[in-house]
Order: sequence, then structure tokens, then C-alpha cells
Amino acid sequence: MNCYIITGSSRGLGAAITAGLFSNDSLIHSISRHRNKEIIKEAECAGAVLHWHETDLNNSSILESLLEGIFDTLDQKKLDGIYLVNNAAVLQPIKPIDRSDSEQIVQNINVNLVAPILLSSLFIKLTADWKMKKRIINISSGAGKKPHYGWSTYCSAKSGLDIFTRCVAIEQEERQYPVQIVSFTPGIIDTDMQSEIRSTNVNDFIERDAFIKYKDQGKLLPPDLVAGKVLNLLFEEEIIQGGIYDIREML
Ligand SMILES: NC(=O)c1ccc[n+]([C@@H]2O[C@H](COP(=O)([O-])OP(=O)(O)OC[C@H]3O[C@@H](n4cnc5c(N)ncnc54)[C@H](OP(=O)(O)O)[C@@H]3O)[C@@H](O)[C@H]2O)c1
Repeated sequence: MNCYIITGSSRGLGAAITAGLFSNDSLIHSISRHRNKEIIKEAECAGAVLHWHETDLNNSSILESLLEGIFDTLDQKKLDGIYLVNNAAVLQPIKPIDRSDSEQIVQNINVNLVAPILLSSLFIKLTADWKMKKRIINISSGAGKKPHYGWSTYCSAKSGLDIFTRCVAIEQEERQYPVQIVSFTPGIIDTDMQSEIRSTNVNDFIERDAFIKYKDQGKLLPPDLVAGKVLNLLFEEEIIQGGIYDIREML
């Protein structure tokens, strides 16, 4: 049996990844603020065990007890592998930084960077002497590599996630039972996050009309296709430790 801990399963890419994990050999722990009843039903039909933790990742102080609670329920002897997918994210504030709301800035960094770092830290700590396949996939963004007007907080968080991935990979080199960790840039996906971008005030995000065009021209990637690439990264035998994968090189 494999155990998957995944954030942001309720919709978008996270929902597609979660649905791709359903089998009678899967134990899934989903973390997001809202449940998705359809996914819960699908999991039941497929014979997967799915536990939903309705949790706000902005609330950093509860993440330690959340992960320890999950690990208390796991029986190491019954597992072939354990996986963490840090997928949940928020774009807001979409505004130049001097017009951004402080609370939204903190929330963005908490959800996009602090939560993945804390969950990875706990995952690595709690599985230190577990001899099995252990993998962390951090869902990053092209915005972590290229600056965008109005996205400074989001770009900073995603850039931070990439360098965090690379640092942890170096640390794991010397471990007896290392965790494999990679970052994945998923391209432009047809999810709520893109609708949010298209409905932004152009004065806050000057590239808005280009994103409206991407949608009109059918250039957005279907969540299922992108989820398939994440599943490959979870299951492929060989992956590049600390790799910064980009979907454009995987299509
Ligand atoms: N869409 C794109 O074009 C695109 C491009 C590049 C990178 N990405 C990255 O791909 C990943 C998935 O994006 P997406 O497009 O699927 O986004 P989405 O449709 O907006 O979904 C975001 C997910 O994150 C969860 N989430 C947001 N805030 C949360 C919080 N405070 N606590 C817990 N969960 C929270 C949401 O669940 P709840 O609302 O239920 O909490 C939801 O499941 C993200 O890391 C994003 O940065 C997306």
C-alpha cells in the first residue's frame, strides 16, 4: 500500500492528481479548506481510503499537530511508499507591492512557502528511519523563474520553493534512507486560478489580456494532462534528486 499526503485536493490540479491516485492500494490524506464530495465518492468506488483534513494552510501553527496526527495513524510495516505533494497555492495579492494588502501578503507566503516547508520538514523528520520509497513533489510555477508585474509575492514564494527543493536535495544526500524531492512547473492550466487571473483589473496585472487570449486560443492545459505528469514524477523509478522539472520539457 502507498500513502499520499496531498494539499489542495478540492479543485484544479490537486483534484486531478488525487483522482489519479485512486486504487484499492491507496491511502490518501487530502488537505484543503473545503471537501470535494465528488472526489470522496469516486475514491470510495475505487476502493481507495481517503481521509480529508479540512485545514487552512495559512494557519502555520497547526501544521505540526496535523502531520503528527496523520503519522500516528500510519503503520510503517504496511506501506511500500509514502509521498507528499505540496500543491495548494494562492495568487493574491495581485497588485504592485505598494498597493498590496499586508494580510494577503502574509497569507500568500504562509500557504505557498511556509506550509510546504513545514510539511516537508515534518515529513522528512517523521520518516527518517523508514526504509521505503519516499518522495516530495513541490508544485511550483514559471512565475518562480520569471518576474511578473503585480505578482511579486507569488513569484517570490514559488522561487523560494524551487531553491528550498534544491537545498533539501543536498541535505538528503548524506542520509541513510533519503527522501527524494523535486519541484514541478505545470504550465498554464485551465483551473480557477486562471479565471481569477482573467478577472483581475488590468492596472493591477498588466499582462491580463495576454492570459485572456491564451484561454480564447485554447492554450490552457487540461488539469488531467498536467496531473498525469505529476503522477509520472511520483511513480517513475529514476528521478533527478532536487530536479526543477518543467512541463514544457515533458510534453
Ligand atoms: N493554474 C495555473 O495556470 C498554474 C500555473 C502555474 C502554477 N500553478 C500551480 O499549480 C498548483 C495548483 O493550482 P490550481 O490552478 O489548481 O489552483 P486552484 O484551482 O486555485 O486551486 C487551489 C487549491 O489550493 C487550495 N488552497 C488554497 N488556499 C488554501 C489554504 N489557505 N489552505 C488550504 N488549501 C488552500 C484550494 O483548496 P480550498 O479552497 O478548498 O482551500 C484548492 O484546492 C498551485 O501550486 C499553483 O501555484 C498553477
